[in-house]
Amino acid sequence: MPCLVTVGGFYGDEGKGKIIAYIAKKDNVAVAVRGGVGPNAGHTFALDGKTYKVRMLPSAALNPATRLLIGAGVLVNPEVLLSEIATFGAEDRTFVDGQCGIIEKSHIERDKSEDHLRSKLGTTGTGTGPANSDRALRVLRLARDIPELSLYIEDVSNSVNHALESNERVLVEGTQGTCLSLFHGGYPYVTSKDVTASGICSDVGIGPKKVDDVLVVFKAYVTRVGGGPLQNELSEDEAKRRGWIEYGSVTGRPRRASPFDMDLAKRAIRINSGTMLAVTKLDVLYPECAGAREFGKLPPEARRFIGDIEGEMGLQIALIGTGPDLYDVIDRRS
Ligand code: IMP
Ligand code: MG
Repeated sequence: MPCLVTVGGFYGDEGKGKIIAYIAKKDNVAVAVRGGVGPNAGHTFALDGKTYKVRMLPSAALNPATRLLIGAGVLVNPEVLLSEIATFGAEDRTFVDGQCGIIEKSHIERDKSEDHLRSKLGTTGTGTGPANSDRALRVLRLARDIPELSLYIEDVSNSVNHALESNERVLVEGTQGTCLSLFHGGYPYVTSKDVTASGICSDVGIGPKKVDDVLVVFKAYVTRVGGGPLQNELSEDEAKRRGWIEYGSVTGRPRRASPFDMDLAKRAIRINSGTMLAVTKLDVLYPECAGAREFGKLPPEARRFIGDIEGEMGLQIALIGTGPDLYDVIDRRS
């Protein structure tokens, strides 16, 4: 599968970062290219006891052989990007499209102070909504105007298409989740862009016929941060009791939680044309699963849970996350 697109199936925070980091290493992908909104998304992954977080770089950053690209549709906060490039020592393999929009301090201030954004929607406060509104008005500055980024600028769409023509493995990384899509999520409680597979492809500049597989990533339960409805939401106490309480990796806010939602998952597979599925954090539901790397080692309840989802979705769950480490994965891809 030379071109794999990964997207979130719920409200973001499905554990895409870890799944992507695993695939990048396991398949030794040549190119990883990030689509999605921008630094409002935080992806976390761990290897050998060390935890890493990215908000701008692709989550494939741990594989030193992978070129790290950021597509034209993604908003860049230069300060965040430059610090991540330094953290991963990725100076000579990071490339940013010259047409990426730039987040300025004023966008962050507006995101944090406008009542509609901060109180009603509960945005991440990272400036992405106001910056995308400036982009629609065509007054936003672009990466090609920023001297500090000049070393990293290239035509990312051209590079990705060229890599595909050369039969290199390309991983297209979506951020957020289907239910947060500006077009297909529950407006107005959504992010400022379409974040479904088609939108992510547009962000990086590839057409639909270039895509070989779309991997839709779900978590074993649903979480949501910020405003908007959440079907079958648990009380905070109940979520804590079950160990499902998480804290946002960008904002530190507690995430609201509910059980796995078959209807949302089906809709996500449809909208994204999903061909492959992943389910993460199975060990949070079934602690005996922690660290399992073979399906046969899972307890019967956990196998039944996976089987029920597969039955409803009509697709095999190819990757199952069983712990925080990159390699805590059951990989059933043939
Ligand atoms: P914004 O994207 O910061 O404008 O926030 C809009 C809504 O999307 C809020 O409910 C945020 O909590 C949510 N959101 C944005 N990015 C993410 C993410 O990466 N994970 C989870 N929720 C997100
Ligand atoms: Mg996240």
